[in-house]
Amino acid sequence: MKQILVTGSVGQIGSELTHALRERYGEENVVATDIRMPSDTRLRDAGPFEFLDVLDPNHVTRVMQIHDIGTIFHLAAVLSAIGESRPNVAWQVNMNGLYNILEAARQYQCSMFFPSSIGAFGKSTPKDNTPQDTIQRPDTIYGVTKVAGELICDYYHKRFDLDTRGVRFPGMISHETEPGGGTTDYAVEIFFEAVKHKRYTCYLREDTSLDMMYMPDAIRAMIDLMEADASKLKHRNAFNITAMNFTPAQLADEIRKHIPEFEIEYEVDPVRQEIADSWPNYMDDSAARDEWGWNHEYDLAKMTSDMIKVISDRIKG
Ligand code: SER
Repeated sequence: MKQILVTGSVGQIGSELTHALRERYGEENVVATDIRMPSDTRLRDAGPFEFLDVLDPNHVTRVMQIHDIGTIFHLAAVLSAIGESRPNVAWQVNMNGLYNILEAARQYQCSMFFPSSIGAFGKSTPKDNTPQDTIQRPDTIYGVTKVAGELICDYYHKRFDLDTRGVRFPGMISHETEPGGGTTDYAVEIFFEAVKHKRYTCYLREDTSLDMMYMPDAIRAMIDLMEADASKLKHRNAFNITAMNFTPAQLADEIRKHIPEFEIEYEVDPVRQEIADSWPNYMDDSAARDEWGWNHEYDLAKMTSDMIKVISDRIKG
């Protein structure tokens, strides 16, 4: 089989995706890449690992020449909150990096997965049951690059018949690798703080509703979409997918079912609050469910109990 390339493999999603792909398709068949060296030595040692800066097209070409790549999961990106403090870097990485990877995919005839996000929506988007096809006028640099990314991936499919596919991910909850610089990161931090200190200070208002997903569902979504029968896909890129939606107050209530002493306080960060306020309360993901059988396994209760168990076990050693 042809190999699979993962960019951003040291990140929150990339690290777990790389392990899952290696388990499914064989360790040698998955080339993990990043500009950071992984502290998780398994990522580097269990299969091929390449230093790859997606901003350097020659670098991308060199990796494509060394390996025999048939599919690319392009996860290298700058998230929403960091993007607002470094818009130039966000544009470079999210647009030029994507363009370099799309060009490599075109030249080497690869399938490609591109993750868009709830950040691709904006204040004028319907907030409840946000449709698959709707108004997208985000006012963050992250959102601008995600909408443009969705469009350029659709364009490469139409113009060059490239097999591009993708989803709009909600906030991602996981315990293996920390998220970095996102607006939804509170939903990860809260668990570590709840288990360690039984309290958390949240930077979003208590009534801020956002879509979320537990990592095992996200990994399965990416693999299922890339394995789906292409003839069934009416959309290609940017499928809305979600598993649950909650506010910080609702998440705190759920955590209290396991840790009754848990306390939450709020110190709202205006930048991240404004970003979160511009995103959907919850999305309609029926297109993904109809076209390629998307279905989540973890809801709020199941995810919360698993997160608390795993983190508690790890702390106990
Ligand atoms: N989790 C991302 C962020 O908060 C959204 O896709 O930036």
